[in-house]
Amino acid sequence: MRAMVVRRFGGPEVLESVEVPVPEPGPGQVRIRVAAAAVNPVDLATRAGILTTAGVIPPREVLGLGWDVAGVVEAGSGFRAGDAVIGLRDRIAAPLGAYAEQIVLDAAAVAPAPAGFSPAEASTLPLNALTAAQALDLVETTGTVLVTGAAGAVGGYAVALAHARGLRVVAVASDRDEAPLRGLGAEFVARGPALGDRVRELVPGGVDAVLDTALLGLDALDAVRGGGEFVAFAAGAAPIPLRGVRVRSVWIRADGERLAELARLAEDGTLPLRVADVLPLAEAAAAHERLAAGGLRGRLVLTP
Ligand SMILES: NC(=O)c1ccc[n+]([C@@H]2O[C@H](COP(=O)([O-])OP(=O)(O)OC[C@H]3O[C@@H](n4cnc5c(N)ncnc54)[C@H](OP(=O)(O)O)[C@@H]3O)[C@@H](O)[C@H]2O)c1
Repeated sequence: MRAMVVRRFGGPEVLESVEVPVPEPGPGQVRIRVAAAAVNPVDLATRAGILTTAGVIPPREVLGLGWDVAGVVEAGSGFRAGDAVIGLRDRIAAPLGAYAEQIVLDAAAVAPAPAGFSPAEASTLPLNALTAAQALDLVETTGTVLVTGAAGAVGGYAVALAHARGLRVVAVASDRDEAPLRGLGAEFVARGPALGDRVRELVPGGVDAVLDTALLGLDALDAVRGGGEFVAFAAGAAPIPLRGVRVRSVWIRADGERLAELARLAEDGTLPLRVADVLPLAEAAAAHERLAAGGLRGRLVLTP
């Protein structure tokens, strides 16, 4: 089967299409024929070697790319051949990822695909909705939560899930994203300088918690009340815990049962599944260039 891998770090040009043996599922695993694989910022950081430098990925000769998959079960346990599924590959140092024609995952990392969506749409759910849900699990407040990067993949799901949980949500994004974010139930603050001051005009004293998906660090922490909560989303993105703010980091883990719940929230319209564009797997390098350029709304998705 064909797969995209990296054997040296660099720009999009280091992505290589290689022929590898079809992976066989072991006990408790399933093999999925990939119909769609979403392209995420973590793939760009893996390809560029940033995560190896940061100590998140140990040195490896070959790294697979792609965490998010939607496809059809071919073999294995826990699902029937032919089942439409979604899944998450959370073993970041593995030599094969979702940028491939087939992938083997633990059945515990897989869930039924949401009904009524294309594989491309369904593939945008696992990594970013699970991250948003697991980040919200870290937050104890029942009050007001600020979401930075709210127009992004994690941020959009975080806004929707926080609103569904009954929290007051303040979204930070570009002006052009105000209407869709208000549609998800959020109040809105435009991104830009003096964020803490502008959030405090809306929420006197500051918000109870921030989910900092835009990696703003201290600028986002400034919007949080003393003794509040801060959730960071990347290595090195956790700020100094000034004013008694409790700072935590979320690190995604695969969870098929939770993913099944999130798929149901997509089906009932709580979670919008957004696709920016669909490209052939062989054009993964072009997808990386477009994601790096910024400004996308929804995910780029690769189809083998
Ligand atoms: N720790 C984990 O387990 C985990 C899991 C998943 C993702 N992540 C990380 O979470 C972060 C977000 O991921 P994502 O997939 O949501 O990325 P994304 O879709 O690219 O979204 C990021 C959003 O932040 C916006 N943004 C950038 N600078 C901003 C600013 N100064 N103020 C407000 N918004 C700003 C971007 O806007 P523009 O596009 O207009 O620039 C974009 O809408 C990434 O760093 C990713 O690696 C971590």
